Amino acid sequence: MSLKQKTNELKKRMQEALLGGGVKAIEKQVAMGKMTARERIIALVDEGSFHEYDLFVEHTGKDFDMDKKHLPGDGVVTGTGSISGHPVCIFAQDFTVAGGSLGLMHARKITKIMDHAMKLQIPLIGINDSGGARIQEGVNSLAGYGEIFFRNTQSSGVIPQISVILGPCAGGAVYSPALTDFVFVVENISKMFITGPEVIKSVLGEQISMEELGGARVHSEITGNAHFYALNELECFEQIKRLVSFIPWNNAKKAEAFPTKPPKSKLYNINKFFPTDPKQPYDVRNIIKAISDDSDFFEVQELFAPNIIIGFGRLKGETIGFVANQPLVLAGVLDVDSSDKAARFIRYCDAFSIPLVTLVDLPGYLPGVDQEHAGVIRHGAKMLYAYSEASVPKITIILRKAYGGGYIAMCSRHLRADFVFAWPTAEIAVMGPEGAANIIFRNEIKNAENPEEMRKQKVAEYKEKFANPYVAAANGYVDAVIAPEDTRHFLIHALEISTHKNVMIPHKKHGIPPF
Ligand code: HXC
Repeated sequence: MSLKQKTNELKKRMQEALLGGGVKAIEKQVAMGKMTARERIIALVDEGSFHEYDLFVEHTGKDFDMDKKHLPGDGVVTGTGSISGHPVCIFAQDFTVAGGSLGLMHARKITKIMDHAMKLQIPLIGINDSGGARIQEGVNSLAGYGEIFFRNTQSSGVIPQISVILGPCAGGAVYSPALTDFVFVVENISKMFITGPEVIKSVLGEQISMEELGGARVHSEITGNAHFYALNELECFEQIKRLVSFIPWNNAKKAEAFPTKPPKSKLYNINKFFPTDPKQPYDVRNIIKAISDDSDFFEVQELFAPNIIIGFGRLKGETIGFVANQPLVLAGVLDVDSSDKAARFIRYCDAFSIPLVTLVDLPGYLPGVDQEHAGVIRHGAKMLYAYSEASVPKITIILRKAYGGGYIAMCSRHLRADFVFAWPTAEIAVMGPEGAANIIFRNEIKNAENPEEMRKQKVAEYKEKFANPYVAAANGYVDAVIAPEDTRHFLIHALEISTHKNVMIPHKKHGIPPF
């Protein structure tokens, strides 16, 4: 055979393989409102950058007539490419081939690209669309998952790992995304659960749809398993591209620096959004936008535990991780879910050298039987652990309330914030003036001729003494009381001089965080 003939044969083989499960299966995929595996990759990466490997891998299963079946590429597409010039390793399960089910060779393709990502020190993106462990391949499928989970764990904190759920992700398969850094879901397309509706019906007699059990909204709002929610696949890919622009390729590199852009001060002005009445709620996202470059804030887990806001922005071109209490929701209290949400984000930023800026305005931890029984002690402790452990530059700004355990937990000086700034509106105390006066002046109030008048007087006395930033500043717990409009200036300076921050971490194999 001539070179031309051989090349033609290659092209023919490729054409067949690239058709995946065939025209009918592709039509079914499209009818479900889904793109095919390769279309997804092409839509996500830079034009012309995708290079596919292991196209001709064949499955090895023989039982249950599997030896008579041809599964092109064994149901998964793997390769490398770039996103806005950032290199990535990528895999996408192909549901048109045996439902994207994971057999031995399918798993080997995934683990091979995972190993590449670690070796090349670049992010890994996994697009999940699969019926789970390939039932006909038995323990070999389970072994495949185990190998993936092990690599997810080894890669954790070394390279960014991104999971995209674009179809079913059922059974133990869900644990790979759960071990990765960010999970993206899409309305009506993503379905994640350990046991599906059928099993639930037969074991518990409960009836529930796949969407209600493990749809995109459920994982974005209730479980917190998902970090980004999109209405369609293309929107989801735009979100991934945006995320990739904020994070570094690996834990030895800094995130890409962008040209500095001032905030859009006409739209986002602190005076416009920060209320004069200390009891009035406001949207802390507007404060973040008022201080960050180009007023650009990319929120993470927007729909989950909205009493705390987390996400990425930039200051003088450098990526920053923002953590902020949200006075609009439950007055910004810390609770089980918000502690989980923030603690994980803090650890992510710390692992990937992203400085942390914390904005504080909270009345403390949420009281109540539900919270106590849900383990607010253990979950709340995650915040303390994450902030104490983080060695990236940590800068805290106390905007308004910083009461009780909440004051300590929100990256106080005591958890080793490098700089703590307070606005003149800050109130740093064990609790709010009303609660405090009722406890410490109980007898005076009870025995007064006019108890209500006395209560008001004592509240005012307490406010005068403690509801301000100056007692904390007098003790050196606050480094500077600053005018709100100077916040960006103080932050940028603090970050610039923290560039070579170096802290001694006690020698240990690893700590034991309150997981
Ligand atoms: C083998 C599978 C498969 C699987 C789907 N298929 N899942 N083949 N093993 N796990 C095949 C189907 O037989 C079918 O093949 C094709 O993929 C498309 O599937 P359909 O059922 O026709 O598609 P749909 O109606 O859209 O339903 C999708 C589905 C359903 C909801 C995912 O297929 C399903 O319930 N599958 C099983 C899900 C599951 O229980 N997985 C958990 C396995 S245990 P043909 O040839 O007809 O086109 C597990 C444990 C891992 O994952 C543990 C790791 C720790």
